[in-house]
Amino acid sequence: MSRIVYVNGEYLPEEDAKISVFDRGFLFADAVYEVSAVIGRKLVDNPAHLARLERSMNELKMTPPASGPEIEAIQMQMIEKNDLDEGLIYMQVTRGAADRDFAFPKDATPSLVMFTQKKPLSDNTVAKKGIAVVTVPDIRWKRRDIKTVGLLPASMAKQAALDAGANDAWFVEDGVVNEGSSNNAFIVTHDGKIVTRHLGTEILHGITRKAVIALAAQENLEIEERAFTPEEAYEAREAFSTSASAFVMPVVKIDGHVLGNGVPGPVAEKLRALYLEMAKAG
Ligand SMILES: Cc1ncc(COP(=O)(O)O)c(C=O)c1O
Repeated sequence: MSRIVYVNGEYLPEEDAKISVFDRGFLFADAVYEVSAVIGRKLVDNPAHLARLERSMNELKMTPPASGPEIEAIQMQMIEKNDLDEGLIYMQVTRGAADRDFAFPKDATPSLVMFTQKKPLSDNTVAKKGIAVVTVPDIRWKRRDIKTVGLLPASMAKQAALDAGANDAWFVEDGVVNEGSSNNAFIVTHDGKIVTRHLGTEILHGITRKAVIALAAQENLEIEERAFTPEEAYEAREAFSTSASAFVMPVVKIDGHVLGNGVPGPVAEKLRALYLEMAKAG
C-alpha cells in the first residue's frame, strides 16, 4: 500500500502527489521544514516543532500556508490515513511557485507538503551499540538556526562519514564542534559535566537538545553550554547526539578514537531512557 501524502489541501497516494517545477523549493531551496516523531500514534514534543517552523518561516519572510492548529490537524489525519504507529512526519513549506527570479514573488501561494515514514524509533538496535562519527569541515551557510531544506552539505557530510566507515559526521568550524549532520552533539567530561555547544546562528536549536538538557537538569546533572574541540571530544568519558528522529544516540568513536570501553555510556543511556519515557507518556 502506498503512503498518503498531503499536498496543499489534498490527501493523495504518493504516486499522485506533485508540485510545480517552478516551485521555489525546487529552484532555490526556498523552503523550510520540520519533522516530528510519532510514538504510539502520538506526536512527540510537537508544539515546540510547530513553533520552530513558524520561526523559520518568519526569519525568511514566508507567508505561513496554515496556522499551527491547522497544521496539527493535518498531522493527526496523516497518522490516521497512514496507520502510523511509530515513525516520523515531515512538514515541508515552500514559498510557492513563481516565474524564476531571485526576488521574492509578491503573489506566490506557499506550499505545504507532509509525508510520513514508518520507522522503529523506541527500539533502535543502533542505539544499543552506539555509533562512530568523523569530523568534517562545516561548509554550510551562516544561518543554521533556520531549518531550511538546503541540506546538501549535510548529505555530503553523512556520505563522507559512511565512506570513511563511520555512521555520522560532526561539523567542525574554527576548531570547535558545532553539531552533527542532522543532530546536536554532546560530550560528557571525566568530571561528569555534560557539554554541548551554546546556541547561536551556527547551529540548529534542537528541540530534542532542549528537552534532554531539561531532563539532565532534573537528574541534577551539570550542563555546560559551550563550544568544545574535537580533541576534547576524543578524551571525553562519553558522547552522544540528539535529534527528533534518533532521540539520544550514544557515540562510541570519534575520528577513530574509542571513548571509554567503546560501548554506550551511562549518561547517554540514562538520558535516552528518560526521553523515551517522556515521549511515550505523550
Ligand atoms: C543540523 C541539525 N542539528 C540539530 C538537529 C536536531 O534537532 P531536533 O532535535 O529538533 O530534531 C537537526 C535535526 O534535523 C539538524 O538537522
